Amino acid sequence: MKGVILAGGHGTRLHPITQGVSKQLLPVYDKPMIYYPLSVLMLAGITEIEIISSPDDLGSFQRLLGDGSWIGLSLTYAEQDKPRGLADAFLVSADHIGDDSVALVLGDNIFHGARFGPLLQRAGQDVKGCVLFGYPVRDPERYGVGVLDEQGKLISIEEKPAKPRTNMAITGLYLYDNDVVDIARNLQPSERGELEITDVNRVYLERGEATLVPLGRGFVWLDTGTHDALMEAGQYVQVLEHRQGVRIACLEEIAWRMGYIDRDTCYRLGSRLSKSPYGRYVMEVAKSG
Ligand code: TTP
Repeated sequence: MKGVILAGGHGTRLHPITQGVSKQLLPVYDKPMIYYPLSVLMLAGITEIEIISSPDDLGSFQRLLGDGSWIGLSLTYAEQDKPRGLADAFLVSADHIGDDSVALVLGDNIFHGARFGPLLQRAGQDVKGCVLFGYPVRDPERYGVGVLDEQGKLISIEEKPAKPRTNMAITGLYLYDNDVVDIARNLQPSERGELEITDVNRVYLERGEATLVPLGRGFVWLDTGTHDALMEAGQYVQVLEHRQGVRIACLEEIAWRMGYIDRDTCYRLGSRLSKSPYGRYVMEVAKSG
C-alpha cells in the first residue's frame, strides 16, 4: 500500500499565520504538524509516501524531511498547483500510486490512541473498496458523517448535514483500493469547484464496498485548522507528553520500533538534535529500548 499526505490547501481559517508559511509546517507543541499524519502512515506499515503541497511550500517540506531514507522511508513530493479538493490527491499522485492500494491522510489531522498501528495494519490488508474511520464529535454538522445500521454497516454518507442523523464524523484518513484513481478521474467538481472526497466515498458506498471503522472513546482525533483547534492540539500533546514521558509522533522512535532503522541510527538521529528535549528523548529511547 502506498501513502499520500495532502499538505496543501488555502489555510484561510488560520490567516494571517498561513500567509507566510504552510499550515502543515506550523508547530503542534514540539514538532511540525506534518509529523503527526506522517507517523500515522508509518504505524500502518507504509514506507512509500508522497507529500502533496503547493509549489511555494513543497521545498520547505523537502528541506524538513528529505528523501525519507534517514527514517527508512521513501518520500516523494508532488505539486498541487491549486487546491482543487481532497480527491485531487489521487490525480496528482496517480503515478506514485501505480497499481497499488493507497492510504490518504490529511496533513492537518492528528490521531492518537493505543494499538492504533495494529488497527491500521489490519484495516489496510487487502483493501477491497474503501475503509473510512469514524469518530464521534459534538458538532457533526461541520463534517462528513457516516450513518451505520444496527449491524454496524455503513449505509449512508452525508456532507455537513444541517440535521445530522448521527454524530460519527468521517476523519481525514482514508484507505482505498486502486479503483480510486479512476473514480477520481471521472468526478465532476462540486459547486465550490473542488473534487470532493465524499463523492469518491459515495461511489464505493453505492457499490457496497465502503466500510467505516469507528474509533472508540480511547482514541483522540484532532484537527488543527483554526486558531483554537491548533492551540488545543498543542496543549493536548504537551499535557500527555509531560504526564507520560512519552512523545506522540516522534518519527525516529516510530522508525526504530517499526524496524525501519536500527537502534544505532535512531540514537545518532537523536544526537543531532541533542540541544532540544525532542532530540534527547530520541537518544534516551534508543539507549533504554
Ligand atoms: P481543509 O481544512 O478543508 O482546507 P484548508 O487547509 O485549505 O483550510 P481553510 O479551510 O482554512 O482554507 O483541508 C484539509 C487538508 O487538506 C489540509 O491539510 C489542506 C489539504 N488540502 C490540500 O492539500 N489540497 C486541497 O485541494 C484541499 C482542499 C485541501
